[in-house]
Amino acid sequence: MRIVFVGPPGSGKGTQSQRLKDDIGVVHLSTGEMLREALYAGTSLGIRAAQFADVGKLVPDEVVLGIVVDRLEQSDCIQGCLFDGFPRTLAQAEALDGILAERGMPLDLVLALQVPDEQIFKRLAARGRADDKPETIKERLHQYRDLTAPLLEYYLRRGILRQIDGVGTEEEVFARVQQAVLPARH
Ligand code: AP5
Ligand code: MG
Repeated sequence: MRIVFVGPPGSGKGTQSQRLKDDIGVVHLSTGEMLREALYAGTSLGIRAAQFADVGKLVPDEVVLGIVVDRLEQSDCIQGCLFDGFPRTLAQAEALDGILAERGMPLDLVLALQVPDEQIFKRLAARGRADDKPETIKERLHQYRDLTAPLLEYYLRRGILRQIDGVGTEEEVFARVQQAVLPARH
């Protein structure tokens, strides 16, 4: 199965992906994590990406697409993939469609987590990652609205979008995620 988690910063994409990947036995692919790992490793790609991520901006499409294409070449992705925080622009979504079509492995589902802004600020302030300062969260939310939210319409038209209420305990949200994934498992 190939599933995309989309949602604003702090909506629980990473948290829910961790649970779902074990549940359905697929690889978890978080572009945010991959970019942070590249920074820790001190690669030029990681350093370039951090110049955008640190101020809450999206990293340029070609940078993100480069790392995703490389990752998808690895054999463990054949069993299925959980995309977390990718695609994040229409250009990325179209590129992913092209890559998956070439392999005859289209997306099965897009799960959109919905969480109000006040909750997002509370959750991220409590976590305190480098990009979790209030001003940066504000910019991440702007980027989400302007560049990522149009994907919802794109996938709605394709009939694979499922909206999920992301408010509640992690367990409550996961029960909704499982409910949304169930029909695609059979
Ligand atoms: P990325 O790492 O993807 O960050 P994000 O999308 O901004 O969001 P987070 O990872 O912070 O939140 P999440 O939705 O995963 O929630 P989580 O489960 O962690 O991207 C970082 C940056 O990299 C971007 O800003 C951009 O610059 C760049 N980037 C990445 N992908 C890109 C792409 N495709 N294109 C361009 N640029 C890209 O939960 C958040 C917190 O809430 C945690 O502390 C968690 O414990 C808590 N929490 C989770 N669920 C609940 C719950 N139900 N109740 C209470 N607390 C909860
Ligand atoms: Mg995340």
